[in-house]
Amino acid sequence: MSVVTRLLPAHSEAELVAALPAVLDALRSGKPVALPTETVYGLAADALQASAVARIFEAKERPFFDPLICHLPSREWVARLTLRSGGKSGAVTEALLERFWPGPLTVVLPRNPEVVPDLVAAGLPTVALRMSAHPVFQRVVEAFGRPLAAPSANRFGRISPTTAAHALSELAGRIPLVLDAGATRHGVESTIVRVREDGVIEVLRPGPVTHDELRAFGFVRQIKGALAVPDAPGQLASHYAPRAPLVLLDAAGDAPSSGCGLLALARSRIPAARAAGYAQVEYLSSTGDPLEAAANLFAAMRRLDDAGVALIVAERAPATGLGIAINDRLSRAATR
Ligand code: TXA
Ligand code: MG
Repeated sequence: MSVVTRLLPAHSEAELVAALPAVLDALRSGKPVALPTETVYGLAADALQASAVARIFEAKERPFFDPLICHLPSREWVARLTLRSGGKSGAVTEALLERFWPGPLTVVLPRNPEVVPDLVAAGLPTVALRMSAHPVFQRVVEAFGRPLAAPSANRFGRISPTTAAHALSELAGRIPLVLDAGATRHGVESTIVRVREDGVIEVLRPGPVTHDELRAFGFVRQIKGALAVPDAPGQLASHYAPRAPLVLLDAAGDAPSSGCGLLALARSRIPAARAAGYAQVEYLSSTGDPLEAAANLFAAMRRLDDAGVALIVAERAPATGLGIAINDRLSRAATR
C-alpha cells in the first residue's frame, strides 16, 4: 500500500515545533518516520510496540533476523531494557556510557525479554542501545517518552542516507514523513561494541568512536565481519552496496577502462590527467582528513551510482582512527 510521504523541515526551532505534532502522531499510531541522527538518518518507531517495529522491517524490506538498535530518551532506560551483566562488563559499560553518551556509540547488552519485544532483537538474548546526540532526534525521543527502534533509513542492503533527500528517495511511498535537519555530521553509522565479562571491548562495527578512544576503557578487539555474524546477523558482508561493482585499491591509478567512476580519498593526491581518465570523480576530502571523508562517503557513493558508472574504483583510507570505519564500509560495498 502506497502512502504520501511528507518532507517536513526542522532546520530551526520554529520549524521543529511546527513539525513535532505530526511526528508524534505518526509514532503514537505505530508508524515509522525518518529522523536525523548525528551519524545517518534513522527510520524510527516505538521500540516497545512489536507491531510498530514490524512496520520498520516492512518499509525497509529488512529480514526479520537482523536486529535493530533502540535509541533511548535518557540513561535511566538502560536499566529497564536490560539485565545485569556479570564480571567487569557492567563497570566498563557504565564508563563507556558516561564518556560517549549521548553520541555515536551503540552498546550490546543482555536483553530484558519482558520489556523489549523479540522482534527488536531478532530473538537474540541481547539488545543494542544508543542515545543520539542530534538535537532534533533528542527532542523527538524525549517528547515521545519511550525508546525508538531505528535502523538506518534505507532499503535493506542499500547505502545509508546522510540527507533527508536520500531517506526520501529510499522510502517515499512507504512511510508518512521524513524530518529534514540537513546533512548528518559523521556520515557513517555508530560504533557498535559489546563488553565481555573480562572487560574486553569487542567492536562489532567500527564507527565514529574510534578504537583509540575506546582503548582508554579496556583492551579493544575488532571482530571481523564474518566473525560477528552469529551475534550480529546484520553484519552481512554485502551491505552499503552501490549498484555498480566496486573495487578497492590502496591508491588509484589510471582508469582501468572507460566509464569508470573514482572515489578518491584526497583531491590533492589525484593528478588532473589521471582524474580526466575517469567518467566521474568524487573526492571525499581535499587533503585526506578522515572526518571530512567519512561525512562525504555515502553521498559520494550515491552520486556515482546515479551517474550510472560501470565500475567504481575506490581508495582505501589509512587504517587508523576513523579510517577503519571508512574501510569497513568500502569493503562491504566491494562485496557482492
Ligand atoms: O548510527 C547508527 O547506528 C544508525 C542510526 C540510525 O542510529 N543506525 C543503524 O542501524 O546503523 P542499522 O540497523 O542500520 O544497523 C544496526 C546494526 C545491524 O547490523 C544489526 O545487526 C546490529 O546493529 N545489531 C542490532 N542489535 C544487535 C545485537 N543485539 N547484537 C549484535 N548486533 C546487533
Ligand atoms: Mg543499516
